[in-house]
Amino acid sequence: MTPPVFFDKIANYYDPLTHVYMLGTYEAVRRRVLNFHRAESPEVLDICCGTGYISNSVRADRVVGIDLSMPMLRVNQRKQGRNGRSAHLTNGDIRALPFHDAHFDEVYFTLAAHEFPDLRHVLSEVRRVMKPGAQLVVYDLYEPRHPLLKLFLHTFFYYVVEQRCMWVYTPDGWQKLLAGIGFRMESLETPYGISAMVSAVKIPFNRINAEREERRELNT
Ligand SMILES: C[S@@+](CC[C@H](N)C(=O)[O-])C[C@H]1O[C@@H](n2cnc3c(N)ncnc32)[C@H](O)[C@@H]1O
Repeated sequence: MTPPVFFDKIANYYDPLTHVYMLGTYEAVRRRVLNFHRAESPEVLDICCGTGYISNSVRADRVVGIDLSMPMLRVNQRKQGRNGRSAHLTNGDIRALPFHDAHFDEVYFTLAAHEFPDLRHVLSEVRRVMKPGAQLVVYDLYEPRHPLLKLFLHTFFYYVVEQRCMWVYTPDGWQKLLAGIGFRMESLETPYGISAMVSAVKIPFNRINAEREERRELNT
C-alpha cells in the first residue's frame, strides 16, 4: 500500500496532479463511472473516496465516503461545501470497514484498487457490507496489452506516481478474482487502453455454488 503520508502531503494538489497523471482522461471517465449509478440504489459507499471524485457527484439518498487520509477528506469536505453536497465522510481503513453487514446498495472504488497487495481480502470485506444483489463499480489501472502502454505503466507510473506500490490485473484476472469471492462480473471496459472499469454484483452465498456449477457446465 502507498504510505498514507503520501496522500496527506499531496492532498491539496491531488486533483490537478491526477488530471495530469491520467493524461486528461479522468473527467470523462468519471462521468462514465457515474453512469453505472442505479436509480434504485439509495445507500452508496465510496471507498478510498479521497477528494470526492465520486462521493461529490453521485446522486443517491445517502452517500458515505471513507478514506484513511484526513487531509484528503478535508479537501473533499471543502469541495462538498462549495457544491452544496452532504456526503457523510469517515476516516478509516477499508480493510476493516466500520459498517454493518449487508448495508449498502452500491459501492464505488476508483483509482485505488492497485494500492492493495491483498485485494482479495479487501473485496471480501467490501462484499460483507453490500446487500445481496448490490453493485460494485471499480475503476482502476490495469495491465494493458499494448507494449508501449505496458512500458509506461511499469516505469513512469510504477516508480513516479505509485511509489513502487502497484498491483494491477488483466481482464481475466478481474473475472477470476471477483468470481472467487462471490461477485458476478457484469461488465469490463478498458477506457483509453490504460484503465479498467469493472462492474459486478454481489451473489448471495447460496447462489455461489450454483453459478460455479453453471460455469463449469458451460465450459465442458
Ligand atoms: C489515488 S487516491 C483515489 C481517490 C479517489 N477514489 C479518486 O478516484 O480520485 C487513493 C486514496 O486511497 C486512500 N487509501 C489508501 N489506502 C487506504 C486504506 N487502507 N483505507 C482507506 N483509504 C485508503 C488514500 O488515502 C487516497 O485518498
